[in-house]
Amino acid sequence: MIAEEAGPAYCDMTGKRTDWFSRARFGLFVHWGLYALPARGEWTLASDEWNPGEYEKLAERFNPESFNPDLWAQTAAACGMGYVVFTTKHHDGFCMFDSPLTDYKVTNTPFGKDVTAMVAESFRKAGLKVGFYHSLPDWTHPGYADRESPEYMRGGVLHEPSPEQYRDFLDFLYGNVRHLLTAYGKIDLMFFDYTSKYKADMDYFGRERLLDMVYSLQPEIIVNDRLSFYKENTLDFDYYTPEICIPNATFTVKGRESVWETCATMNDHWGYCASDSGYKDVHTVTAALAGCVSRNGNLLLNVGPDASGQFPEQAISLMNDIGEWMKSGRESVVGCGACPYTPPFGCCYTASGRNIFCHFLTPPVGDLIVPGLKGKISAVELLRTGEKFELIDDWGFELLDEHEQRIRTRGVKRGDVMRITLKV
Ligand code: GLC
Repeated sequence: MIAEEAGPAYCDMTGKRTDWFSRARFGLFVHWGLYALPARGEWTLASDEWNPGEYEKLAERFNPESFNPDLWAQTAAACGMGYVVFTTKHHDGFCMFDSPLTDYKVTNTPFGKDVTAMVAESFRKAGLKVGFYHSLPDWTHPGYADRESPEYMRGGVLHEPSPEQYRDFLDFLYGNVRHLLTAYGKIDLMFFDYTSKYKADMDYFGRERLLDMVYSLQPEIIVNDRLSFYKENTLDFDYYTPEICIPNATFTVKGRESVWETCATMNDHWGYCASDSGYKDVHTVTAALAGCVSRNGNLLLNVGPDASGQFPEQAISLMNDIGEWMKSGRESVVGCGACPYTPPFGCCYTASGRNIFCHFLTPPVGDLIVPGLKGKISAVELLRTGEKFELIDDWGFELLDEHEQRIRTRGVKRGDVMRITLKV
């Protein structure tokens, strides 16, 4: 029996700081930086040919004339998203904020404004929580080198940072994070990306020192797990971040159910890539979202704005479709969590209080046979149309076991959601 209580009955609600996050369930990831100009994704500095200094010169051309963060925030809110995670600095080292520690930053471009501040303000105003992505690797800092750095990817060379360079690198990382967590108001979430196994083993970024600083500056913040290497976690993190995949069960770390979020691209790139038109459709995204929620997780859907500051057309069209789905589908994901019952064929369950939400990954061929709910259902309704469905108790029992309930569905389309309300 699902306990009747406010909010999600089956979520891990032990952590006070992660409570808002587990309720929100859906967020917007934004990958935006100088790489929007060459339009080949955010790894272009490492994976494509660049003459020395050529990439850095892109800063002289960064002037997104159509950048309207209010519009970004409204679009996200209409999609039912509860938070944003914005790339303050990616591996290319370019700061999308007014770093006090480098000139290689957005405030030194023709655009001249602190886009991180603008993004934070707009999303906050629209009622969303604000998260910062910050890359731990920095390909342009001499105090950092790994096998994914451009020097190695393109030239096969890997320099060994001197102790001074390493110290400078840490000062730079800590100084930037300190600035981000003091000059931009309340920051709800920090997404550090990423540490290789090698760098994790040597604790290159000084995990505990960094986290101590983060929590002392923003006591309510939540921080992801990428200061460690995958599940070989040396610490318990606020939440865990699988990438572009849906785990098959709730997420367990060190034997404890944990808060998690999968991040996923809309097409096949995080940063804007002009030639990548392979966008997912709305069903893929809403099914992925339902899949995450059904395992007590979140979905962080990425968009890569172009150099003019706009979301790509196909991203807008996808987000419009998601917004349309959310008009009725919202209650089936936001504030919901896993359900203990087994869903029928072709469906996925999420739950909140007395309601089970049945997400149709594929339309039913006719009647639906729901396991374990015989005698427990008080009403069944299709969210998109408001149509009530009939429980069939006198037909086809020879096929059913005593706990199965047959439901007559009508007009169900792929991606629809049916609310099953249980008796008190
Ligand atoms: C991967 C990509 C990186 C991206 C990140 C988002 O690590 O390499 O570019 O920012 O995923 O989670």
